[in-house]
Amino acid sequence: MTQVQSTSRGESISLRRMFPSVIAGTALPAESQPAPNVKAPHYLTAHYWWAYVHPRAVWFFERQWLVNLILWGNYVQLRNAALADLGDVLPGTTLQVACVYGDLTAGLARRVAAGGGRLDVVDVLPMQLENLRRKLPSGAPARLLSMDSADLGIPDASYDRALLFFLLHEQPASHRARTLSEVFRVVRPGGEIVIVDYALPRWWHPLRYLWRPLLATLEPFALDLWRHEIAHWLPAAARAGWRKQSFFGGLYQKVVIRR
Ligand SMILES: C[S@@+](CC[C@H](N)C(=O)[O-])C[C@H]1O[C@@H](n2cnc3c(N)ncnc32)[C@H](O)[C@@H]1O
Repeated sequence: MTQVQSTSRGESISLRRMFPSVIAGTALPAESQPAPNVKAPHYLTAHYWWAYVHPRAVWFFERQWLVNLILWGNYVQLRNAALADLGDVLPGTTLQVACVYGDLTAGLARRVAAGGGRLDVVDVLPMQLENLRRKLPSGAPARLLSMDSADLGIPDASYDRALLFFLLHEQPASHRARTLSEVFRVVRPGGEIVIVDYALPRWWHPLRYLWRPLLATLEPFALDLWRHEIAHWLPAAARAGWRKQSFFGGLYQKVVIRR
């Protein structure tokens, strides 16, 4: 199947050419091999093989109670906070950057369907996209795209909104900055970018002291988000219009950027 989309400049582009690997909701068969020119970044295979890359990773982690446990019981609150900001009914185009375990994307797809919109989810690991395909209801208005968040092969201003849920803390600083720059580029002026991730807990929070060594060991770039606001990695043009909300004594944050 060749889907065709108009770019911001008005020309038509074959999605097969634009997106080396497209795993659409149910229309296309699952692809389990990495697309030839989409390579898993080194930080993912070196530091997150146990969570996303290992052949048993999905089997082990795709349990909402476990994700909730890892988030100290905050999964539902954080998921709902992200969805609430985006809205109940989502017409137009929505981008989710990176798959997540749990039912966040199914909820997002429902809202997109209610608005008659379209959802694109990008991830660099085909096995994560394949897992997501199994979680989405058949007929969900979603395209699952195999891409690196730091190099989105998508035209400028393609989306009305974008969501990043616990992606940035996994990335080294240079990759994080490129991801944010790419997301900023593909969301249209006036659109919204919602980010949920770790942040520095308040001084009185026990996890500020107990969680730090574990995070530093298991997730070596996560403490960057304790040291700096997310705005630190935003392109200069995005630094003016953002707001932050803290959760669970500051350990988690939601940042909303108006493009
Ligand atoms: C969003 S993050 C963390 C999600 C969180 N731990 C959870 O499951 O709730 C996990 C996903 O990010 C994807 N990912 C990591 N780096 C990426 C990149 N550079 N481009 C696209 N996807 C990426 C991984 O393949 C994985 O599917």
